[in-house]
Amino acid sequence: MRLRRCAHLLFEPREALQFDLESLAAGGDGLHTELSLLALAPHRQQEIPVSPGDVALLAAVPCTAWSDFDALAAVHGAAPLQDLLARGLLVGDDAVSADAVQDQRLREANWRTVSAVQHYLGRWNGVRSGDDLQRAGYVTLGELIAKLGEPPPAAQSRAAADARLALPPPRTTDFDELLQRRATCRNFDAAAALTQDELATMLHRVFGAQGTLNLEGGGATTVLKRNSPSGGGLHPTGAYLIVQRVSGLAAGLYHYRPVEHALEPMREMTIADTADLASRSVAAQAYFAAAPVLVALAVRFPRSFWKYRNHAKAYRVAALDVGHLSQTLYLSATDLGLGAFVTAAVNEVEIEQAFGLDPLVEGVLAVCGFGARAARRVADEFDPNGRIWREDGSRASG
Ligand SMILES: Cc1cc2nc3c(=O)[nH]c(=O)nc-3n(C[C@H](O)[C@H](O)[C@H](O)COP(=O)(O)O)c2cc1C
Repeated sequence: MRLRRCAHLLFEPREALQFDLESLAAGGDGLHTELSLLALAPHRQQEIPVSPGDVALLAAVPCTAWSDFDALAAVHGAAPLQDLLARGLLVGDDAVSADAVQDQRLREANWRTVSAVQHYLGRWNGVRSGDDLQRAGYVTLGELIAKLGEPPPAAQSRAAADARLALPPPRTTDFDELLQRRATCRNFDAAAALTQDELATMLHRVFGAQGTLNLEGGGATTVLKRNSPSGGGLHPTGAYLIVQRVSGLAAGLYHYRPVEHALEPMREMTIADTADLASRSVAAQAYFAAAPVLVALAVRFPRSFWKYRNHAKAYRVAALDVGHLSQTLYLSATDLGLGAFVTAAVNEVEIEQAFGLDPLVEGVLAVCGFGARAARRVADEFDPNGRIWREDGSRASG
């Protein structure tokens, strides 16, 4: 058998502090320090405890060329090699293990190692984000400040106050009015359905192709023009819809085709099942799960990394692309009198499983949603100028 080290691997010495009554009773600081060493292996999509000896051995095994097992075993012993093979940090060429397949696919995907670690070890499954905050004991801004002290100031000063150059008052147009009505919606009307016209308009404005370019000699290569910028003009982000309430459209899962401006039905579901998936998608943030349509923004890494191969900025570009799309979504919704949200507190694993997405090909970076606002505000929104809500909680505008 031959073996080699997995392609992407980082090590983290981690320290966890635990409360220790014995240390306190003995006059100490009451803290017990737990040190551990972890292998961060994106093809395993989990952290794996290792020893310093494991690290030294892994460093001694090449990751590109295959090495003969017996030759390595003669130097390092067979047992430690078998142990690392069992944990997937070494892969063999004899039997096609799931770890070896994942490692091979990740090798071919042109990821930068630090980005692959960040992405694959940052994915959530079964997380309820509100619960974490409750456990930590802070949910509101006031509770945060009480627990953590003041945050750094809202803006930096780079000159003395009397050295500042006052600017003329900004021009205001209808666009400012639109911008000022944009606010993250946490009060959707849980009964209202979107019209198909609203859905179509939103999808076309945010994800639709406003134009296409087929380069001469470029084969089947199509370049999309969207209403948001995209690194390299590649637009690798796709829209996967959880439809809960759209008039005349069955509840379930859909994919949007940007050039044809059409929906591809992926799975019809009961209202209860879509509600459950919507909730799990946004890590149990109930105010977001109530939106009639949620859109998972999934980046197709092979399209981006086709150009940005092993590139230090590629993952950042993908995240920025998604952020731009979400702002276009907010403004499009605001213009239609609808509320909108974006969240990165998402259970990517559950979303990808629901849509049958291969996480090595497509990764969900955020979930957005949109729909009509409720008549009354229950959950907090950031609307300090009262553009959307009156003080008594009734609606002032869209
Ligand atoms: C990348 C990103 C992630 C966000 N995630 C959450 C979230 O998980 N939960 C939430 O309630 N709001 C989330 N928000 C909304 C912010 O809380 C909101 O933008 C901020 O409070 C300012 O309010 P505004 O959008 O109404 O101006 C997110 C916003 C962004 C840009």
